[in-house]
Amino acid sequence: MIYPITVYGDPLLRQTAKPINKDYPELAKLIEDMFETMYFSDGVGLAAPQIGLSIRIFVIDATTYADEEPELANFKKAFINPEIIERTGDEWALNEGCLSLPEIREDIPRPEMVRIKYLDENFTEHDETYSGFAARVIQHEYDHLDGILFIDLLNPLKRRLLKSKLTAISKGKISTKYRQKLPGKK
Ligand code: NI
Repeated sequence: MIYPITVYGDPLLRQTAKPINKDYPELAKLIEDMFETMYFSDGVGLAAPQIGLSIRIFVIDATTYADEEPELANFKKAFINPEIIERTGDEWALNEGCLSLPEIREDIPRPEMVRIKYLDENFTEHDETYSGFAARVIQHEYDHLDGILFIDLLNPLKRRLLKSKLTAISKGKISTKYRQKLPGKK
């Protein structure tokens, strides 16, 4: 099932999402649907709040970037109840976008490396370190679970310049190939 994407202006995107336990109903199906929604929407990552669920899960598939970084060849994963333990290395900027912020792209500085603990879809615990593009996508998706959007990381001037665009997004005036769930609408 392909979910509509919750866009900017919906308070759900600003909430701190809740951890889930093993009994979460139809978890395997949810993860499958998250991947399906992400592929349909041409995203590299998708966090549960973006499909209207305030729970701590995100999915990433960066395998198409393996040409640039060979270690991404198998990087298709679901992260459940993740916890970033450490962010290290120099900050570097990359142009980011977000399905919840259609047509906005900005250079966002983030630390080079992250160490993250998480559960996979079988609730097996992992403790891994990532760098480069993987670390970037992880940090972007992880932020969604804490109600943070990449525009929050811009300086105040740049944020002000985006104001009218953000208003347009929240009113559903930016069309996308995927369906949008607009603030205050079912
Ligand atoms: Ni995003």
